[in-house]
Amino acid sequence: MPVRKIGVVGCGLMGSGIAQVCAQSSYPVVVSEINNELLQKGLNSISSRLSKDVEKGKLTQSDKDSILARLKGTTNTADFSDCDLVIESATENVEVKKKIFTGLDKVCPANTILATNTSGQSVIDYAVVTGRPDKVLGLHFFNPAPVMKLVEVIKTIATSDATVKTGLEFVASLGKTPAVVQDSPGFIVNRLLLPFLLDAVRMLESGKATKEDIDKTMRLGLNHPMGPLELADFIGLDTVYYILTAMHEELKDPLFAPPTILKKMVTAGHLGRKTGKGFYTYK
Ligand code: CAA
Repeated sequence: MPVRKIGVVGCGLMGSGIAQVCAQSSYPVVVSEINNELLQKGLNSISSRLSKDVEKGKLTQSDKDSILARLKGTTNTADFSDCDLVIESATENVEVKKKIFTGLDKVCPANTILATNTSGQSVIDYAVVTGRPDKVLGLHFFNPAPVMKLVEVIKTIATSDATVKTGLEFVASLGKTPAVVQDSPGFIVNRLLLPFLLDAVRMLESGKATKEDIDKTMRLGLNHPMGPLELADFIGLDTVYYILTAMHEELKDPLFAPPTILKKMVTAGHLGRKTGKGFYTYK
Protein backbone atom coordinates (compact mmCIF):
# COMPACT_ATOMS: atom_id res chain seq x y z
CA MET A 1 0.00 0.00 0.00
CA PRO A 2 1.38 3.46 -0.84
CA VAL A 3 2.77 5.49 2.04
CA ARG A 4 2.28 9.17 1.26
CA LYS A 5 1.95 10.93 4.58
CA ILE A 6 3.68 10.12 7.88
CA GLY A 7 2.69 10.78 11.46
CA VAL A 8 5.20 10.75 14.32
CA VAL A 9 3.98 10.68 17.92
CA GLY A 10 6.55 12.34 20.16
CA CYS A 11 9.05 15.03 19.21
CA GLY A 12 11.79 14.21 21.71
CA LEU A 13 15.26 12.87 20.96
CA MET A 14 14.05 10.03 18.71
CA GLY A 15 10.73 11.42 17.47
CA SER A 16 12.27 14.67 16.25
CA GLY A 17 15.02 12.72 14.47
CA ILE A 18 12.52 10.38 12.81
CA ALA A 19 10.27 13.28 11.76
CA GLN A 20 13.32 15.05 10.29
CA VAL A 21 14.43 11.96 8.35
CA CYS A 22 10.93 11.50 6.89
CA ALA A 23 10.59 15.17 5.90
CA GLN A 24 14.09 15.07 4.36
CA SER A 25 12.93 12.10 2.28
CA SER A 26 10.12 14.25 0.83
CA TYR A 27 7.25 12.93 2.98
CA PRO A 28 4.73 15.37 4.47
CA VAL A 29 4.96 14.75 8.22
CA VAL A 30 2.70 15.49 11.19
CA VAL A 31 4.58 15.31 14.48
CA SER A 32 2.92 15.59 17.86
CA GLU A 33 3.82 16.38 21.44
CA ILE A 34 1.84 16.47 24.66
CA ASN A 35 2.12 20.27 24.94
CA ASN A 36 3.21 23.27 22.90
CA GLU A 37 6.39 23.83 24.88
CA LEU A 38 7.76 20.33 24.16
CA LEU A 39 6.57 20.56 20.58
CA GLN A 40 8.42 23.83 20.02
CA LYS A 41 11.54 22.41 21.66
CA GLY A 42 11.47 19.40 19.33
CA LEU A 43 10.82 21.48 16.21
CA ASN A 44 13.61 23.88 17.19
CA SER A 45 16.02 20.97 17.52
CA ILE A 46 15.15 19.88 13.96
CA SER A 47 15.58 23.41 12.67
CA SER A 48 18.97 23.85 14.33
CA ARG A 49 20.23 20.47 13.00
CA LEU A 50 19.18 21.52 9.50
CA SER A 51 20.89 24.90 9.95
CA LYS A 52 24.13 23.08 10.77
CA ASP A 53 23.76 21.08 7.54
CA VAL A 54 23.26 24.36 5.65
CA GLU A 55 26.42 25.81 7.27
CA LYS A 56 28.33 22.68 6.22
CA GLY A 57 27.02 23.00 2.65
CA LYS A 58 25.19 19.65 2.87
CA LEU A 59 21.84 21.42 2.34
CA THR A 60 20.87 24.73 0.75
CA GLN A 61 18.73 27.24 2.63
CA SER A 62 15.94 26.44 0.19
CA ASP A 63 16.25 22.67 1.01
CA LYS A 64 15.95 23.54 4.67
CA ASP A 65 12.89 25.72 4.07
CA SER A 66 11.17 22.97 2.03
CA ILE A 67 11.91 20.33 4.69
CA LEU A 68 10.46 22.54 7.42
CA ALA A 69 7.44 23.35 5.24
CA ARG A 70 6.71 19.60 5.03
CA LEU A 71 6.66 19.33 8.84
CA LYS A 72 3.53 20.16 10.76
CA GLY A 73 3.61 20.18 14.55
CA THR A 74 0.49 19.41 16.55
CA THR A 75 -0.78 18.58 20.03
CA ASN A 76 -3.96 17.01 18.64
CA THR A 77 -4.18 13.28 17.78
CA ALA A 78 -6.98 14.05 15.30
CA ASP A 79 -4.31 15.54 12.99
CA PHE A 80 -3.11 11.99 12.22
CA SER A 81 -6.42 11.22 10.49
CA ASP A 82 -4.97 11.42 6.96
CA CYS A 83 -1.65 9.63 7.64
CA ASP A 84 -0.81 6.33 5.91
CA LEU A 85 1.79 5.40 8.50
CA VAL A 86 2.10 6.64 12.08
CA ILE A 87 5.28 5.96 14.07
CA GLU A 88 4.87 6.17 17.84
CA SER A 89 8.03 7.44 19.50
CA ALA A 90 6.86 8.34 22.98
CA THR A 91 8.48 7.51 26.30
CA GLU A 92 9.18 3.81 27.02
CA ASN A 93 6.12 3.41 29.22
CA VAL A 94 3.79 0.56 28.29
CA GLU A 95 0.60 2.20 29.57
CA VAL A 96 1.37 5.50 27.83
CA LYS A 97 2.10 3.69 24.57
CA LYS A 98 -1.08 1.59 24.84
CA LYS A 99 -3.15 4.77 25.24
CA ILE A 100 -1.46 6.25 22.18
CA PHE A 101 -2.25 3.17 20.08
CA THR A 102 -5.86 3.15 21.26
CA GLY A 103 -6.16 6.84 20.32
CA LEU A 104 -4.52 6.36 16.92
CA ASP A 105 -6.77 3.39 16.15
CA LYS A 106 -9.78 5.65 16.68
CA VAL A 107 -8.67 8.52 14.44
CA CYS A 108 -6.73 6.78 11.65
CA PRO A 109 -8.40 5.14 8.65
CA ALA A 110 -8.57 1.33 8.72
CA ASN A 111 -5.68 0.94 6.27
CA THR A 112 -3.22 3.16 8.19
CA ILE A 113 -0.20 1.23 9.44
CA LEU A 114 0.71 1.88 13.08
CA ALA A 115 4.34 1.43 14.11
CA THR A 116 6.18 1.71 17.38
CA ASN A 117 9.76 2.87 17.79
CA THR A 118 10.04 1.00 21.09
CA SER A 119 13.60 -0.04 21.89
CA GLY A 120 12.66 -3.54 22.88
CA GLN A 121 9.21 -3.88 24.42
CA SER A 122 6.68 -6.41 23.19
CA VAL A 123 5.05 -4.97 20.05
CA ILE A 124 2.07 -7.35 20.21
CA ASP A 125 0.99 -5.61 23.44
CA TYR A 126 0.28 -2.49 21.36
CA ALA A 127 -1.16 -4.39 18.37
CA VAL A 128 -3.90 -5.98 20.50
CA VAL A 129 -5.30 -2.68 21.78
CA THR A 130 -6.11 -1.77 18.17
CA GLY A 131 -8.70 -3.23 15.83
CA ARG A 132 -5.95 -3.80 13.23
CA PRO A 133 -3.23 -6.02 14.76
CA ASP A 134 -2.19 -7.14 11.26
CA LYS A 135 -1.25 -3.51 10.49
CA VAL A 136 0.94 -2.98 13.56
CA LEU A 137 4.70 -3.48 13.52
CA GLY A 138 7.88 -2.12 15.09
CA LEU A 139 10.12 0.34 13.24
CA HIS A 140 13.09 0.80 15.54
CA PHE A 141 15.38 3.70 14.63
CA PHE A 142 18.74 4.44 16.24
CA ASN A 143 20.06 7.62 17.79
CA PRO A 144 20.90 9.96 16.09
CA ALA A 145 18.17 8.99 13.64
CA PRO A 146 19.40 11.33 10.85
CA VAL A 147 22.81 9.60 10.94
CA MET A 148 22.28 5.94 11.81
CA LYS A 149 21.62 3.68 8.83
CA LEU A 150 19.77 0.80 10.50
CA VAL A 151 16.06 0.40 11.19
CA GLU A 152 14.88 -2.83 12.85
CA VAL A 153 11.56 -3.96 11.36
CA ILE A 154 9.72 -5.94 14.03
CA LYS A 155 7.14 -8.50 12.98
CA THR A 156 4.69 -9.76 15.61
CA ILE A 157 2.80 -13.03 15.26
CA ALA A 158 -0.14 -10.93 14.03
CA THR A 159 1.67 -8.61 11.57
CA SER A 160 0.71 -9.37 7.97
CA ASP A 161 3.31 -9.96 5.27
CA ALA A 162 1.86 -6.96 3.39
CA THR A 163 2.53 -4.70 6.40
CA VAL A 164 6.11 -5.97 6.70
CA LYS A 165 6.61 -5.39 2.97
CA THR A 166 5.34 -1.81 3.27
CA GLY A 167 7.60 -1.30 6.29
CA LEU A 168 10.63 -2.54 4.37
CA GLU A 169 9.84 -0.34 1.37
CA PHE A 170 9.33 2.65 3.63
CA VAL A 171 12.69 2.12 5.40
CA ALA A 172 14.42 1.84 2.00
CA SER A 173 12.70 5.05 0.86
CA LEU A 174 14.41 6.84 3.78
CA GLY A 175 17.79 5.66 2.49
CA LYS A 176 18.13 3.34 5.49
CA THR A 177 18.80 -0.38 5.75
CA PRO A 178 16.21 -2.64 7.40
CA ALA A 179 16.76 -5.81 9.43
CA VAL A 180 13.68 -7.95 10.05
CA VAL A 181 13.36 -9.45 13.51
CA GLN A 182 10.66 -11.31 15.43
CA ASP A 183 8.89 -9.57 18.31
CA SER A 184 11.29 -10.66 21.07
CA PRO A 185 12.72 -8.65 23.99
CA GLY A 186 15.34 -6.13 22.84
CA PHE A 187 15.03 -7.35 19.23
CA ILE A 188 18.58 -7.77 17.83
CA VAL A 189 20.50 -4.64 18.79
CA ASN A 190 19.43 -4.14 22.38
CA ARG A 191 19.49 -7.87 23.13
CA LEU A 192 23.19 -7.78 22.34
CA LEU A 193 24.01 -4.20 23.36
CA LEU A 194 22.49 -4.04 26.85
CA PRO A 195 24.48 -6.86 28.47
CA PHE A 196 27.60 -5.10 27.17
CA LEU A 197 26.54 -1.71 28.60
CA LEU A 198 25.60 -3.36 31.90
CA ASP A 199 28.91 -5.15 32.23
CA ALA A 200 30.60 -1.77 31.81
CA VAL A 201 28.43 -0.30 34.59
CA ARG A 202 29.20 -3.30 36.84
CA MET A 203 32.91 -2.98 36.10
CA LEU A 204 32.77 0.68 37.10
CA GLU A 205 30.73 -0.13 40.22
CA SER A 206 33.22 -2.79 41.31
CA GLY A 207 36.11 -0.33 40.95
CA LYS A 208 38.01 -2.46 38.42
CA ALA A 209 38.64 0.53 36.14
CA THR A 210 37.73 4.19 35.81
CA LYS A 211 34.92 5.27 33.50
CA GLU A 212 37.45 7.02 31.28
CA ASP A 213 39.54 3.86 30.92
CA ILE A 214 36.53 1.62 30.31
CA ASP A 215 35.35 3.91 27.49
CA LYS A 216 38.81 4.53 26.07
CA THR A 217 39.58 0.82 25.79
CA MET A 218 36.44 0.12 23.78
CA ARG A 219 37.01 3.17 21.54
CA LEU A 220 40.66 2.50 20.89
CA GLY A 221 40.76 -1.28 21.30
CA LEU A 222 37.65 -2.09 19.27
CA ASN A 223 37.12 1.06 17.20
CA HIS A 224 33.69 1.71 18.74
CA PRO A 225 32.65 5.33 18.09
CA MET A 226 31.77 5.68 21.77
CA GLY A 227 32.66 3.72 24.89
CA PRO A 228 29.78 1.92 26.67
CA LEU A 229 29.31 4.49 29.44
CA GLU A 230 29.41 7.38 26.97
CA LEU A 231 26.91 5.48 24.85
CA ALA A 232 24.59 4.86 27.81
CA ASP A 233 24.65 8.63 28.53
CA PHE A 234 23.98 9.28 24.85
CA ILE A 235 20.98 6.90 24.69
CA GLY A 236 19.62 8.30 27.99
CA LEU A 237 19.94 6.41 31.28
CA ASP A 238 16.16 6.45 31.77
CA THR A 239 15.69 4.77 28.40
CA VAL A 240 18.39 2.20 29.21
CA TYR A 241 16.74 1.56 32.58
CA TYR A 242 13.22 1.20 31.14
CA ILE A 243 14.33 -1.17 28.36
CA LEU A 244 16.28 -3.26 30.86
CA THR A 245 13.39 -3.45 33.30
CA ALA A 246 11.05 -4.63 30.53
CA MET A 247 13.58 -7.17 29.26
CA HIS A 248 14.36 -8.46 32.74
CA GLU A 249 10.67 -8.87 33.48
CA GLU A 250 10.12 -10.81 30.27
CA LEU A 251 13.28 -12.94 30.21
CA LYS A 252 13.91 -13.35 33.97
CA ASP A 253 17.59 -13.45 33.10
CA PRO A 254 19.92 -11.79 35.67
CA LEU A 255 22.01 -10.61 32.72
CA PHE A 256 19.39 -7.88 32.24
CA ALA A 257 18.88 -6.90 35.90
CA PRO A 258 19.38 -3.12 36.15
CA PRO A 259 22.34 -2.37 38.48
CA THR A 260 21.51 -0.32 41.60
CA ILE A 261 23.68 2.60 40.50
CA LEU A 262 21.62 2.96 37.31
CA LYS A 263 18.34 3.07 39.23
CA LYS A 264 19.75 5.68 41.60
CA MET A 265 20.99 7.86 38.75
CA VAL A 266 17.58 7.74 37.08
CA THR A 267 15.84 8.59 40.37
CA ALA A 268 18.19 11.54 40.80
CA GLY A 269 17.41 12.79 37.29
CA HIS A 270 20.95 12.11 36.08
CA LEU A 271 19.78 10.85 32.72
CA GLY A 272 22.90 11.43 30.64
CA ARG A 273 23.47 14.01 27.93
CA LYS A 274 19.90 15.22 27.83
CA THR A 275 20.01 16.46 31.44
CA GLY A 276 23.68 17.48 31.39
CA LYS A 277 24.70 14.78 33.87
CA GLY A 278 25.04 11.03 33.72
CA PHE A 279 28.25 9.05 34.02
CA TYR A 280 29.83 12.25 32.67
CA THR A 281 28.95 15.94 32.97
CA TYR A 282 27.95 17.87 29.83
CA LYS A 283 27.69 21.59 29.11
N1 CAA B 1 21.72 14.58 14.81
C1 CAA B 1 22.06 14.67 13.52
N2 CAA B 1 23.34 14.53 13.09
C2 CAA B 1 24.27 14.34 14.02
C3 CAA B 1 23.98 14.26 15.39
C4 CAA B 1 22.62 14.40 15.78
N3 CAA B 1 22.25 14.30 17.05
N4 CAA B 1 25.14 14.04 16.06
C5 CAA B 1 26.11 13.99 15.15
N5 CAA B 1 25.59 14.16 13.91
C6 CAA B 1 26.31 14.16 12.65
C7 CAA B 1 27.25 15.33 12.56
O1 CAA B 1 26.58 16.46 12.05
C8 CAA B 1 28.32 14.82 11.60
O2 CAA B 1 27.84 14.94 10.28
P1 CAA B 1 28.89 15.21 9.06
O3 CAA B 1 29.81 14.03 9.03
O4 CAA B 1 28.01 15.28 7.88
O5 CAA B 1 29.56 16.49 9.41
C9 CAA B 1 28.39 13.32 11.94
O6 CAA B 1 27.16 12.99 12.60
C10 CAA B 1 29.54 13.02 12.86
O7 CAA B 1 29.39 13.84 14.00
P2 CAA B 1 30.57 14.50 14.80
O8 CAA B 1 31.74 14.73 13.87
O9 CAA B 1 30.05 15.68 15.52
O10 CAA B 1 30.92 13.47 15.93
P3 CAA B 1 31.35 11.97 15.85
O11 CAA B 1 32.21 11.67 14.67
O12 CAA B 1 31.83 11.70 17.21
O13 CAA B 1 29.97 11.18 15.62
C11 CAA B 1 28.10 10.04 16.42
C12 CAA B 1 28.88 11.34 16.47
C13 CAA B 1 27.54 9.81 15.01
C14 CAA B 1 26.95 10.18 17.39
C15 CAA B 1 29.06 8.85 16.81
O14 CAA B 1 29.69 9.14 18.03
C16 CAA B 1 28.36 7.53 16.93
O15 CAA B 1 28.08 6.87 15.95
N6 CAA B 1 28.08 7.11 18.19
C17 CAA B 1 27.40 5.85 18.47
C18 CAA B 1 25.92 6.04 18.23
C19 CAA B 1 25.15 4.78 18.49
O16 CAA B 1 25.67 3.72 18.77
N7 CAA B 1 23.82 4.91 18.40
C20 CAA B 1 22.93 3.83 18.70
C21 CAA B 1 22.52 3.91 20.12
S1 CAA B 1 21.41 2.61 20.55
C22 CAA B 1 19.92 3.21 20.08
O17 CAA B 1 19.73 4.32 19.66
C23 CAA B 1 18.78 2.28 20.14
C24 CAA B 1 18.16 2.06 21.42
O18 CAA B 1 17.11 1.45 21.41
C25 CAA B 1 18.71 2.45 22.70
